[in-house]
Amino acid sequence: MVQARVTVDRDFTLGPVPRRLFGSFVEHMGRCVYTGVVEPGHPEADAAGLRRDVLELTRELGVSVVRYPGGNFVSGYDWEDGVGPVEERPRRLDGAWHTVEPNTFGLHEFVDWARLAGVEVMEAVNLGTRGVSEARALLEYANHPGGTELSDRRRRNGAEEPFGIKLWCLGNEMDGPWQIGFKTADEYGRLAAEAARAMRMVDDDLELVACGSSNLSMPTFGAWEETVLTHTYDLVDYISLHVYYSDRDGDAESFLASAVDMDRFIEAVVATADFVRARDRHTKTMYLSFDEWNVTYRHDPARPAVPEAEITRGWDEHPPIGEGDFDVTEGVVVGTLLSSLLRHGDRVKIANQAQLVNLLGMIRTQEGGPAWRQTVFFPFAAMAAAAAGEILRLAVTSDRATTARYGEADLVDVSGTWDAGSGRLALFLANRSLAEDAEVDVALRGLVPGEVLSARVLAAPEGGDRFSVNSAEAQPVGLVDWDGASVVDGGLAVRLPALSWAVVEIAVTAA
Ligand code: AHR
Repeated sequence: MVQARVTVDRDFTLGPVPRRLFGSFVEHMGRCVYTGVVEPGHPEADAAGLRRDVLELTRELGVSVVRYPGGNFVSGYDWEDGVGPVEERPRRLDGAWHTVEPNTFGLHEFVDWARLAGVEVMEAVNLGTRGVSEARALLEYANHPGGTELSDRRRRNGAEEPFGIKLWCLGNEMDGPWQIGFKTADEYGRLAAEAARAMRMVDDDLELVACGSSNLSMPTFGAWEETVLTHTYDLVDYISLHVYYSDRDGDAESFLASAVDMDRFIEAVVATADFVRARDRHTKTMYLSFDEWNVTYRHDPARPAVPEAEITRGWDEHPPIGEGDFDVTEGVVVGTLLSSLLRHGDRVKIANQAQLVNLLGMIRTQEGGPAWRQTVFFPFAAMAAAAAGEILRLAVTSDRATTARYGEADLVDVSGTWDAGSGRLALFLANRSLAEDAEVDVALRGLVPGEVLSARVLAAPEGGDRFSVNSAEAQPVGLVDWDGASVVDGGLAVRLPALSWAVVEIAVTAA
């Protein structure tokens, strides 16, 4: 039996839960937009072709903000192609994903979708093939009330009121050789600074995100952030991080410890940003936008994801890139990645799970068929709903495991929030052990527990195992009520099944 002890002290908090931690991402890639978000003629489509079943699941997820339109796609994208009468929009080659982009879905359609989904728009500008002028023009088109050629073009295109988009990404993964128009840190830093200056001249009420490294293993990691922030520190509000974890080599123990790596990644970027702040005598705090994060599918010949190499050779429209079924293990890892983001909510203010539909999606759809919840849907929806009030700075001691990829890792992973207003304590716990249950002893300081309001667990389903998945035909995996949490001696006793992620909500009063 794995043993762990958690101390919750109501005075040890990190600050309010940033709602934007529960963001996602919609890119013109694979079937995320076409036959994911929009599918004219589908039985669930509304008059504009938006899939109502996907909208409903997006609302159920509690997604707060959605990044659009890419990703690598944005670095070759001309935003003008996606506005105006649909029948006049050009079909274009998209070099990033080797597909044909029909441009029948663009900025207006996305803003309409976002309003229906109840999410904030996070718009990316193309700093790959384009630059300051086009970034400024897109902003004017989107946000200026009227009386100029660009803003009046928006009005003629059906949007009388400005879109009011506050949050903008200055390009995407500009350090990556795969990126159309990728740049050195100095080239990008200068361009991002100039774009930021020009955009703030059009609209001074913006929040801007500069590109950090594409992942922690980029050879330029660290130096890239330092150089980019040297150019942009006073002009931007966030530096971005991206990561995708997978059980690609069958080392499940390492995969389960992915959040240990995410913790280190975040702390390394915070340290680099704070170094630039100290060295250059800045006063403001640089925040982090983790605007792409997720797990990818375990390599398993018996469970093939659509191989990218095969489907990206043609010039097809919306080929099914990067689709597959997430299993229970991947659901548990996503729960721990969400906990890592929450534990760093004093510096990580935005996070976007990538991507919302089909491609590594929390939601999957069939063209002409149903939409359903993947395993990774459940921890996201549960945490978005239960995390409220203040993030707790928890003291955790746990039995540990040594992993090949990330070294020592606690077998029990925990994060939590306390909402004084509603009197709710929420704990998000994972047991990383593949074989043993875990006993978690939770001590409360300054809080008196009432009843356990809800306790739900994501684990291997009845008759299944950690490789169980949901599909169009059957959805055996989900969060289920479980009786593993009870109030004992002014604290809590929690018993987690092997390989599980759980959310426990307890009524508490301040002592
Ligand atoms: O999310 C898929 C792709 O992964 C994005 O387009 C890119 O930014 C990242 O490398």
